[in-house]
Parts: sequence; structure tokens; C-alpha cells
Amino acid sequence: MALPNGGEKSTELLNAQAHVWNHIFNFINSMSLKCAVQLGILDIIHKHGKPMTLPELVEALPMNKAKAKSVSRLMRILIHSGFFMKEKISESEEEAGYCLTPTSRLLLKDEPLSVAPFLLAMLDPILTEPWHHLSEWFKNENSTPFDTAHGRMLWEHAGQEPRLNNFFNEAMASDARLVTSMLIRDCKHVFEGLNSIVDVGGGTGTVSKIISDEFPKLKCTVLDLPHVVAGLEGTKNLSYVGGDMFESIPSADAVLLKWILHDWSDEECVKILKKCKESISSMDKGGKVIIIDMIVDNQKEDDMAIETKLFFDMLMMVLVSGRERNEKEWAKIFYDASFSNYKIIPTLGLRSVIEVYP
Ligand SMILES: C[S@@+](CC[C@H](N)C(=O)[O-])C[C@H]1O[C@@H](n2cnc3c(N)ncnc32)[C@H](O)[C@@H]1O
Repeated sequence: MALPNGGEKSTELLNAQAHVWNHIFNFINSMSLKCAVQLGILDIIHKHGKPMTLPELVEALPMNKAKAKSVSRLMRILIHSGFFMKEKISESEEEAGYCLTPTSRLLLKDEPLSVAPFLLAMLDPILTEPWHHLSEWFKNENSTPFDTAHGRMLWEHAGQEPRLNNFFNEAMASDARLVTSMLIRDCKHVFEGLNSIVDVGGGTGTVSKIISDEFPKLKCTVLDLPHVVAGLEGTKNLSYVGGDMFESIPSADAVLLKWILHDWSDEECVKILKKCKESISSMDKGGKVIIIDMIVDNQKEDDMAIETKLFFDMLMMVLVSGRERNEKEWAKIFYDASFSNYKIIPTLGLRSVIEVYP
């Protein structure tokens, strides 16, 4: 590329360089946030109860105090990315201190709906290593970059690596707590009138525990791989089954598939959905499959929502053999699995509830 002569062209070149730099260093936002969560910065500021000065923060942090100046640099980028604010300590004083923002409250360790476990899992080296193998994967025969990096598929690896199994299940449980609280508040009708439900790929049962408490007459069964449900104890209306959803799914009025189908290819989704159809009641008895997943290509979304959905689509390509789907792609797998109709309830932020009828 030749060096441009005119002033305007130089600006274009320098803007292009800045754009490239910004993308090269996008990961610094994620890693700085991970560091703040690991050091407990958010929890310390929260416990302080008022704007916290840099010396107060450094004093409270479990760190080498000689690195105090680096804390202000870490905080500066996290203020820029919207995780902290600076506020005056008091009306009379000029000095400002660090405060949380509504977003960072969601990363507090003791916040019941905290998404910190999801952040720590997604940024764990086991799950970030496959990104270094993405271009290699495009040229090889492996199903996923995860497989290229670790020599086996995610679910198999989780069955062999207790640390991965634990942090992955904890990440899913943290997401489940937040989503299910919204689901119960805004979409309770989805579960009304049902006598039984199977939460397929339900992890350690966080969604089902909340639903079974909310609907004491509803019989809930969690089906997941044996290493996920090993040792878990049910309650009066909640039980666990270790198994493989491609082999068999216990019978129930309805099946719940939360964050399951986006893990799999279209062909695999059709197989799972056909198994679900065999296990659910007829439509006149309320039989249905309840899906919680994303629908991409929604014209009304802002740039951040669109980009986040694209991130998830790439994540599904790198970790598992799945994808995020638009409505037409969803409809195709429903009809290919011989379901008659579906209804989208777009109430869960970036995700939707989709009811699919036999
Ligand atoms: C993305 S997680 C979703 C967990 C849970 N539904 C949630 O959203 O919190 C996918 C789940 O599918 C489970 N899974 C993977 N393969 C499975 C199989 N063949 N049969 C049953 N569950 C499976 C995984 O163990 C994992 O718990």
C-alpha cells in the first residue's frame, strides 16, 4: 500500500490504523474486567458503601502495595468501559472516589443474580485457548477449534476434567438464576396448566429448582450427562436423571431446552427435537417444547445487541458445533422435526422464549 499524498487520504490511513489497533486490543477490555473481578475490586467498593478513594482501595486490596499506581490505570479503563464511575466523596470536598455502575453490580460475588461465574468461565484459559486454533481449524478435519486445542469435544472434556465441569456448571447456573427470575416474572403462563416437565440438558438443575418451587404441583425432571448430575439430590417434585438426550428423554407434558439447541448443528437439533416430540404429550394436553435461545437478525436491535449475538454465534462455532439462528432457520428445524407450529415470546433481552407445538 503506497503512502497517500493528499491530507484527506492520510487521515483515512491513520483512521484505518486506529481501527485495526482498537480491534487488536479488544481483549484488553475483557481481561481488565476479569482482573477486577478476581481481585474483588467490585465487592470491596460495594462494601465500602460510599465513593472509595484510590489509597482506600489500594489499602483494602489483597495486593503488593508497590503496584498502587497500576490500580488507577486499571480503574481508568474500567471507567471508560462503563464498569465504574468517579463521584465526589462529599459536597464539601473536591476529592472523588470510585463507585459501581448498574452493570458492575451484576458482577458482585454476593449478588444473587451475579454473572461473575459466567465471566470467569468464559475467560478461563481452557475456553479461550481454542480461539488460538481457529485458523488452523478452518484447514483441518476437526469438528471444533475446541477439539483442535484439547483433543476432544467440550462435553467429553468436561466429563474428564472436574475443574472445567465445575466452573462450566457454575457459569450456567449463574445465567439460569438471572433468566429464570425474569421467566417467572414475565412468562409464568408458559408453565401454567402443565403437570410435568423435563429440563433437557438442564445442568445442575438451577432452572428446574426455581420452577419446581414456584409450581409445587409440577413434576420436574432434569436430564443431563451423568458427570453433571452425579450426586445431586432431588426434592418432592424435582428429580435428576443422568443420560444422553440423543438416546432417550423421559416422558412429560413439556420439554424445556434452555441454551441447548444453539450448541448443536441443524441435523443434531432435528434429532434432539424428534426425541423431544416422542416424549411430550399431545397438543390438546398442553404438549410443547419450550426453547430459550437467541434469535438473530432482529432489525430493531442496537449495535451492541447485534455484536453480542455475533459474538455468541462465533462462540458456538469455536466451543461446540452449534450456531445462533434467525427465525427462518429456527422454523426450518422445527418443521424438519415434524412440529406443526411455533410461537416466539421475545421477553428475555437478547434471548427469546419459543414455544414449539407437536
Ligand atoms: C450450554 S449448557 C446449558 C445448561 C442449562 N440448560 C442452562 O441453560 O443453564 C448445555 C448442557 O447440555 C448438556 N449436554 C451436552 N450433551 C448432552 C447430552 N448428549 N445429553 C444430555 N445433556 C447434554 C451439558 O452437559 C450442559 O449441561
